[in-house]
Amino acid sequence: MEKQRIVSGMRPTGALHLGHYLGVLKNWVELQEDYRCLYFVADWHALTSEYKDPSIIAASTEDIVHTWLGVGIDPDRSIIFRQSDIKAHAEFFLLLSMITPISWLERNPTYKEIREELKEKDLGTFGFLGYPVLQAADILVYNAHKVPIGEDQRPHLELTREIARRFNNLYGKFFNEPQEILTEQPKLPGIDGRKMSKSYNNAIYLTDAEKDVTQKVRNMFTDPAKIKKNDRGNPDNCVVFAFHCVYNESEKPLVESECRAGSRGCVDCKMAAAARINESLMPVRERRAEIDKKQNLVLEMIEDGNRRAKAAAEETMSGVRKLMRI
Ligand code: TRP
Ligand code: SF4
Repeated sequence: MEKQRIVSGMRPTGALHLGHYLGVLKNWVELQEDYRCLYFVADWHALTSEYKDPSIIAASTEDIVHTWLGVGIDPDRSIIFRQSDIKAHAEFFLLLSMITPISWLERNPTYKEIREELKEKDLGTFGFLGYPVLQAADILVYNAHKVPIGEDQRPHLELTREIARRFNNLYGKFFNEPQEILTEQPKLPGIDGRKMSKSYNNAIYLTDAEKDVTQKVRNMFTDPAKIKKNDRGNPDNCVVFAFHCVYNESEKPLVESECRAGSRGCVDCKMAAAARINESLMPVRERRAEIDKKQNLVLEMIEDGNRRAKAAAEETMSGVRKLMRI
């Protein structure tokens, strides 16, 4: 039987951090086993928020692809490409915008949240309102079965299904209703306890050197009530503990009981967490260093991915044009 198709994209708006890995990339790597995967750099989506100064987009496109390869995305099995190279996404976005009610977009919770969060960016644009329509085009143009995403993207998948349903009702059954694949992993906080994010300057990056990771772990917020080594602590109020839960699962019960009993010092506890995080990043660093030496090969690989994605997208588009009689 032919493998089911997976489609997912990532916006090139800076270096990727541990949250990207645990929230999405880890799934991307594993799904390559059982699915036909298409992974792309969503540079047009990045432009919806970075249009005033798009330089970050070009600068991080190559960087994030290198990081993907570093974590184990495999170009022999998956199609890796760049959104803006496949013009069919734009054509399909336009066609889908004809059938998407504005009210669906205005009530989208992610839209409201991000507009609030990025107040300084002036996101009152047509393009930003249409963000999920472009995302629906990305997904449906490959008639994807499943889409690995972070929790925050859930409303966008719901909208994609609604748009697919509307298309099918209007023009005849043509599209799958794609399902999301979410990670079970609990969210990691940034070093200050807020959501890990580049804009909060609290992230650990997949490309951070060992000593930088260690320094960031040193700076992590711990239970403010535990001041001296022998004070009793509450791990639930501690960022370091959240990292032990993910990177040091086997010792998690020990860390927890020692912290609560007052027999564990925060300095040692941090060093142990840093060591485990660094351990997990070591193979990524090594692979990434190799990949950085082969910049031209990566560019060729993207060109090859573009060619293959384009062929698949064009096939869908000829069906769509026929159904829409345009
Ligand atoms: N909106 C997604 C994000 O910010 C990126 C994205 C664009 C995407 N197109 C997509 C994800 C299609 C999955 C499928 O994370
Ligand atoms: Fe956090 Fe560890 Fe200190 Fe407890 S001992 S507060 S878990 S750093």
